[in-house]
Amino acid sequence: MSKVITLHEFIMDRQSDFPFATGELSRLLSDIAVASKIVSNDVRRAGLLENFLGAQGSTNIQGEEQQKLDVIADNQFINAFQTGGEVCGIASEENDDFMPFESQFSKNGKYVVLFDPLDGSSNIDVNVSIGTIFSIYHRKSEIGTSATLEDMLQPGDEQIAAGYVLYGSSTMLVYTTGKGVNGFTLDPSIGEFCLSHPDMKTPEMGRIYAMNEGNVNICDPGIKEYIEAKCQQILEGAERPYSGRYIGSLVADFHRNLIKGGIYIYPATTVDPEGKLRLLYECNPLAFIAEQAGGLASTGRERILSIKPERLHQRVPFFIGSKAMIEQAESFLK
Ligand code: AHG
Ligand code: MN
Ligand code: MN
Repeated sequence: MSKVITLHEFIMDRQSDFPFATGELSRLLSDIAVASKIVSNDVRRAGLLENFLGAQGSTNIQGEEQQKLDVIADNQFINAFQTGGEVCGIASEENDDFMPFESQFSKNGKYVVLFDPLDGSSNIDVNVSIGTIFSIYHRKSEIGTSATLEDMLQPGDEQIAAGYVLYGSSTMLVYTTGKGVNGFTLDPSIGEFCLSHPDMKTPEMGRIYAMNEGNVNICDPGIKEYIEAKCQQILEGAERPYSGRYIGSLVADFHRNLIKGGIYIYPATTVDPEGKLRLLYECNPLAFIAEQAGGLASTGRERILSIKPERLHQRVPFFIGSKAMIEQAESFLK
């Protein structure tokens, strides 16, 4: 039987990858793991608990109805970051503005975290996979002062680490610090994330496409042409067309495609002219992971990680997945 490597051991072993590392990033990743175990526990029992399912009765700044679990998860992660001491401020989908942490303890933190506490809200009440997405940057402002908007609006290329937690048939944490992608499965019997998917690589080409096809007539006609020509035809050498798979939880759709190969598309539409997904806490972290695994992420015209963000909740069209499939889809938009 081979040795079980826990996430904690793995993070500690990898600390030496970073010259002059003082252990703060390691502690921050461990804080995220602990918070996500608590959220996982809440998600697993939500149907049995009072006040866990259903709408919160409020909307976020993006006009979306907040679910109770969105707010519960948001508070759980904020608490972890606020009490950890490594983070001087955060931004999240559920908060209108970024949040500088004003204690001196937190002002001495080196990092900011941007996150989507619960991704796939529409699936919470129906027992379908949901997730958490996070993105970590070095602050730009001086240590000891309050976090600034500039700390938050950094291009994805500046990310120090990024990852996601998938609350699926098992709970998994997948992350990168720019040296490959590793996946850990939560073993509920010992309460530890254990290395299950070392050095994840995504296939160069896949046979799955994921898009909300209800939108196909309200987006760039090139997308319809791409899907009809490349996904819905039996192409040379194949026995059948590609398979359409759309969960409607970005984390879950992305994770499946990362492992099996595939393309995920959320284009600009006449309803959401800039796209639906948020650059800072949905697209950038997943783009970092995709590239580290050998895949690509773009707006259809521009590499996601190169974009200089202008607004906290900025949306972008999003194409992510297997390299050859993204390149092919992009060629239909030109
Ligand atoms: P969130 O629940 O964090 O607001 O994100 C929902 C996102 C994403 O997870 C998913 O892929 C997409 O919205 C689904 O949108 P449609 O219902 O428009 O397909
Ligand atoms: Mn989301
Ligand atoms: Mn969300």
